[in-house]
Amino acid sequence: MRPRISAISALMLPVLSGCKGAQSAFDPAGVESERVLQLFWIMLAGGTAIWAVVIGLSFYASRGKTGPYSDRSGVRLIIWGGCVFPTVVLAGLLYWGLEIMPELRRPGDGPTIAVSGERFWWRVAYAVEGEPGVVRDLPRGGIPSANEIWIPVDKRTEILLSSPDVIHSFWVPSIAGKMDAIPGRVNRLVLEPTETGVFNGACAEYCGTAHALMGFRVVVVPEDEFEAYLEAQAQPAAVTDSPGLELFLQNGCAACHTVRGTPADGDVGPDLTHVASRLSIAAGILPTTVENLAAFIASPDHLKPGVEMPAFGVLPEDQIARIAAWLGTLE
Ligand code: CUA
Repeated sequence: MRPRISAISALMLPVLSGCKGAQSAFDPAGVESERVLQLFWIMLAGGTAIWAVVIGLSFYASRGKTGPYSDRSGVRLIIWGGCVFPTVVLAGLLYWGLEIMPELRRPGDGPTIAVSGERFWWRVAYAVEGEPGVVRDLPRGGIPSANEIWIPVDKRTEILLSSPDVIHSFWVPSIAGKMDAIPGRVNRLVLEPTETGVFNGACAEYCGTAHALMGFRVVVVPEDEFEAYLEAQAQPAAVTDSPGLELFLQNGCAACHTVRGTPADGDVGPDLTHVASRLSIAAGILPTTVENLAAFIASPDHLKPGVEMPAFGVLPEDQIARIAAWLGTLE
């Protein structure tokens, strides 16, 4: 018996190790994801109980019992097995599901962050106290960022979700359930992380060619670190006159991207004011390095098929390198 158990464990290991990590609903690091996981196990137990009874009855009917049933036992089976048992189990599961809902809808005591799902990246704006515009003009206003959301640990951060194009779905499996970002309306999701760390988020609603490459990072830090981060992000870029900046402006990058503190004020693509401070570029697909920035500028469609940004591979390599090097200084 023992060797068989260890063989099964060895086979299960790669499967179960997939349940750990920065993007797993089985490895909760937030209040809501813990509840969701609990609900999952209870639903699974309820479903398994119903399944076992149905299979047991099928075996009994086909193998165990021979001869005809009396009318009375047939009626009893339908009443107990067909009505009472499923009603009790499903009512129990419904009660459980409803019972945790008000708790999840409790208002936030942390920051408010507007997040807009766009093709194929996430526009982020941190609401500034006393400046309600960020909610009204979602997601403009506030302190802009993209594809990376910093939130304080043990606080309830309100995420206000919307979209200007198609339906996306905002999901950080380790921290909370998913919520759709729907054009024309604002959906609310609360993130209440219980652990610090970097967690992966994804778009969970098919939205076009680059849907699978529409990721983001959620960085959970202590509250004072969050405040310091916000203060730094609110600053304009520490711009030095650089040939990279000149090339950035000359080649039309500014038509889509903003770098606060420079004439670049485009609103189509991600705000790049502090792009080098982010962990990844291109919506979570590449680590932020000067090389990756250069590669993405030269052929974004190659790295991220379906991306809306045009390729700039026609530019001489040294010019792309200069633009990338300058972006690499924007911390
Ligand atoms: Cu955005 Cu899928």
